[in-house]
Amino acid sequence: MVESIEGLNRTYFCGELKKKNSGEEVTLMGWVDTRRDHGGLIFIDLRDKTGVTQVTFNSEANEELHKKVGELRSEYVIAVKGKVIERPAGTVNKAIATGEIEIEAAELRILNPSATPPFEINSEVLPGEDVRLKYRYIDLRRPKMLKNLILRHRVVKSVRDFLDREGFIEIETPFLTKSTPEGARDYLVPSRVNPGEFYALPQSPQLLKQMLMVAGIDRYFQIVKCFRDEDLRADRQPEHTQIDVEMSFVSPEDIYSLVEGMMKYAFKVSLDIELKTPFKRIGYREAMDNYGIDKPDLRFGMEFEDISDIVGDVDFKVFCEAVKSGGVVKGIKVMGGAEVSNRSIEDFIEFVRSQGASGLVWFKVGKNDVRSPVSKFFKEEKLIEIRDRMSAEAGDLLLFIAGESGVVSSSLGKLRLELAKKRGLVDEKKFNFVWVVGFPLFEFNEEEKKLESAHHPFCMPIENDIELLENEPQRVRAKAYDLVLNGEEIASGSIRIHVPDIQRRVFRALGLSDDEVETKFGFFLSALGYGAPPHGGIALGLDRLVMLMAGEESIRDVIAFPKTQKGLCLLTGSPSPVDEKQLKELHIKVDGK
Ligand code: AMO
Ligand code: AMP
Repeated sequence: MVESIEGLNRTYFCGELKKKNSGEEVTLMGWVDTRRDHGGLIFIDLRDKTGVTQVTFNSEANEELHKKVGELRSEYVIAVKGKVIERPAGTVNKAIATGEIEIEAAELRILNPSATPPFEINSEVLPGEDVRLKYRYIDLRRPKMLKNLILRHRVVKSVRDFLDREGFIEIETPFLTKSTPEGARDYLVPSRVNPGEFYALPQSPQLLKQMLMVAGIDRYFQIVKCFRDEDLRADRQPEHTQIDVEMSFVSPEDIYSLVEGMMKYAFKVSLDIELKTPFKRIGYREAMDNYGIDKPDLRFGMEFEDISDIVGDVDFKVFCEAVKSGGVVKGIKVMGGAEVSNRSIEDFIEFVRSQGASGLVWFKVGKNDVRSPVSKFFKEEKLIEIRDRMSAEAGDLLLFIAGESGVVSSSLGKLRLELAKKRGLVDEKKFNFVWVVGFPLFEFNEEEKKLESAHHPFCMPIENDIELLENEPQRVRAKAYDLVLNGEEIASGSIRIHVPDIQRRVFRALGLSDDEVETKFGFFLSALGYGAPPHGGIALGLDRLVMLMAGEESIRDVIAFPKTQKGLCLLTGSPSPVDEKQLKELHIKVDGK
């Protein structure tokens, strides 16, 4: 039976009542969280977004009501009217905010029953993510998910307040637009009224925000959806949200201090955490050489040491041949790792092989010796020299990889992260920000044998490198920067090219013909020609930022309605086939099934 809400006024939320409310007549509404039946006495925990309140139904006090409660099941929506009473001594529940009181029910209305939920909201064990996504509205009733959504709201609100105070204005840019390359495929939208023509959903508002600078807006921001058709992972969604920022007449320093101020404010307001600014900075080259990755996690040490100069002349072929053929030998020190079993070390070797290295050599540092299966190939002095270079002490484990520099760094970098996880070296409560600066402008795509933008084609080269654009493009460095938090890239930006001629030269270096440039970017080059001010900006990945702030492992846990790794929305069943009629209107013929 469904009853009406008519005549009832909710007086409190379920997480509000305290001892001081004792004696008040109140009306609460919400969901049946749990029901505990003690015969003559039934307890209901009534839940809404603010928490739970215990409601008691006593058969002696009201038999009819007591009977009606018998009908209630989990997740029924009810309204309860009753009196707040202090809980008897010994039954106070310190774990919840309303634990000092309970409601003695005088009236109960069943506003809507519920089918048996597919999983229990309070259970420690969760069903598979597919079930959670299919019944997302149930999943979002879990306090943890609700907390994440509230945190996301707080972060967005604090960012808006902060940027508003700094003189930024939020401007919306269109979703139905032209391609903005950010390295992914475009999502296309067919135009019904322009047969055979398509809009692209923006991979970012990059070109539009730059044109707002040409328009004289000076300080723009937008909290905006971006659409990218790319392979999905735990930290990637086909649509993600950016805190997108652009400023005129600025240097990278201005952007760093703006973002540092923004993070400081957002962390203070949303989590009551005081961040230390300015954030550390590290060069791209240094990051690659010392951590094997352009988004180093600096919450723990284990930076690489290069021992190539020591081992160029040893008898151990793997090492000396690597050095002779122009490669390197690099290692990391695992403090106190000498107790690691040889079996586990075998696993590390397997691991680095799966990352492209051909092997791994280990040394265990003792009080008076350095042990290794290959120590016979090293003179005593060499072992000591290696130990000292690594600043190793008795009880440490040293791990080395030899080979081509790039392969060594990337496999050792992965091993470093793996070891940190395995050995619990990561302080999960720490927030470690680092700016990575001095990126190259281009990267060489080995598969397609061509240059690609390391970020996007609109980044300004460092002045001194502009002359290298034609002949040595791979040496050109960009005025670009990333912000890394705990080993995740959470923001990326640059000073932009505001001079049409330099922009054309960059397009040419990327292999675009003049015709292609004209069709794809003619409008943009033309805009730069009408007094574009020097400008630059950045975009923060909101989903990743909130994920890290919430201590979650996947951005899906901070997005209300995310998609699966295959880009499916299990709740609505999208994407899905459409009517023949709709296709016809859009002038589209579907190939295949
Ligand atoms: P970029 O492509 O680096 O830069 O994106 C900025 C930030 O957005 C986040 N991000 C994503 N988050 C979730 N899912 C995705 N698929 C995804 N792709 C990116 C990352 C990233 O650091 N227009 C430039 C910014 C600029 O130069 O101002 C841009 O979009 O955290
Ligand atoms: P192999 O000559 O392949 O039998 O390797 C001898 C030892 O060197 C083994 O312990 C390998 O794991 C190790 N090894 C092989 N390749 C490398 C490499 N590139 N870097 C470090 N150690 C390696």
